[in-house]
Amino acid sequence: MTIDELLDALWRDYVAITPQAERIQRLLAARGERVINDHVALRTYGLPGIGIAALAKPFEALGWREQPQRYQFEDKKLLARYWKHDNPALPKVFISELCVEELSVAANLIIERLVLQLPPGFGERPDLAWAGRPWRVRRAEYESLLFESELAAWIAAFGFRVNHFTVLVNALTTFPDLESLDAFLIDHGFMLDDAGGAIRGSRAHHYEQSATRADSIAIDFAGETHRVPSGYYEFVRRYALASGELFEGFYAVSELK
Ligand code: NI
Repeated sequence: MTIDELLDALWRDYVAITPQAERIQRLLAARGERVINDHVALRTYGLPGIGIAALAKPFEALGWREQPQRYQFEDKKLLARYWKHDNPALPKVFISELCVEELSVAANLIIERLVLQLPPGFGERPDLAWAGRPWRVRRAEYESLLFESELAAWIAAFGFRVNHFTVLVNALTTFPDLESLDAFLIDHGFMLDDAGGAIRGSRAHHYEQSATRADSIAIDFAGETHRVPSGYYEFVRRYALASGELFEGFYAVSELK
């Protein structure tokens, strides 16, 4: 598999559950913009064989390298790391895992029922990052997980796939800042996720981020179909550090939401 094939597979899988991302990319293209992706974000359960390390493998095989930073968000029971490619035009890969053992016994029993359905060798699939949902899950199970952790419920409903792609605002030529991009999106009928303010982070964090409100799509829950939030499109503007280099890390509060 080539890098282009991998990124193309991820994008196609992502827009299948987040169609607004494709519409936004087309709108930007119609303005003459060429979208560069800052990062793709993946999430998983922190369990042996399917955790961060398993998801990172297919990227490492194509030259992405793990970065030393560790991100932790205790409230949400998340850990995250990211990978960067030597080719700076390629997106970083941000992977978070849910510390399952910190959830309730009830949530652990549900997640155990899901994981027991995994076929042997599942975590070693080269297409793990877009393998989709390998288990059956009931709506009641989804709702119970949602009560404790949005991320636990999301993984139960969607399985292994990209949660969001992220536009690098610095690389856009017709928007001077994130505010003007956000205003353009609102003018075109998109809704922004404004929990905690539409723009998270700040110049002081060297990182400003906004995101659309998640799309919702129909999901099969053991024969019943319900609409649940799927993915969102994210926009990041990075600022230079005192050294003059662009900040390459993440602002955990906005990234692990
Ligand atoms: Ni992100």
